[in-house]
Amino acid sequence: MKRPILIHPDPRLKKLCEPVAEITPEIAQLAEDMLETMYDAPGVGLAAPQIGVTKRVIVLDCSKEQDARRPLAMVNPEVVWESEDLSRYEEGCLSIPEQYAEVARPAEVRVRWLGLDGAVQEEQFAGLWATCVQHEIDHLNGKLFIDFLGPLKRQMITRKMEKLKRERARQA
Ligand code: NI
Repeated sequence: MKRPILIHPDPRLKKLCEPVAEITPEIAQLAEDMLETMYDAPGVGLAAPQIGVTKRVIVLDCSKEQDARRPLAMVNPEVVWESEDLSRYEEGCLSIPEQYAEVARPAEVRVRWLGLDGAVQEEQFAGLWATCVQHEIDHLNGKLFIDFLGPLKRQMITRKMEKLKRERARQA
């Protein structure tokens, strides 16, 4: 089931999310809903707090072609290694629609997480996958990509989002 995506600013997007103790049917359903919501948006990643669930769950799929989909659901993901060299990407966020800014992050990261089958997995990511997985893990710590920007740029984007939310509320 598709879920509504919260738009910044929202206190639920600033929370430190709780680790998941075990993979239950509810967690599997949450991940499935998140993937459906992400593909529908469309986006390449989504974190549970973006649909108002403050648990450490993210989904992502940075594959380019539709027929080569690689949906990944990660529970309690953590970066266990990061490269010294950085790469810059123009980032966006489904909770901050139509706003983009360049952010520098480690070019490669190794991530450990719990899969929906309950098994621990570990994988090294590069390119857009590396950027995306770091962006989504940040969400679990209440951090948005605009927090990497200077205060003026951040305030400008936040004001635009407040205006967007007012407009949407009027239309509802
Ligand atoms: Ni985001």
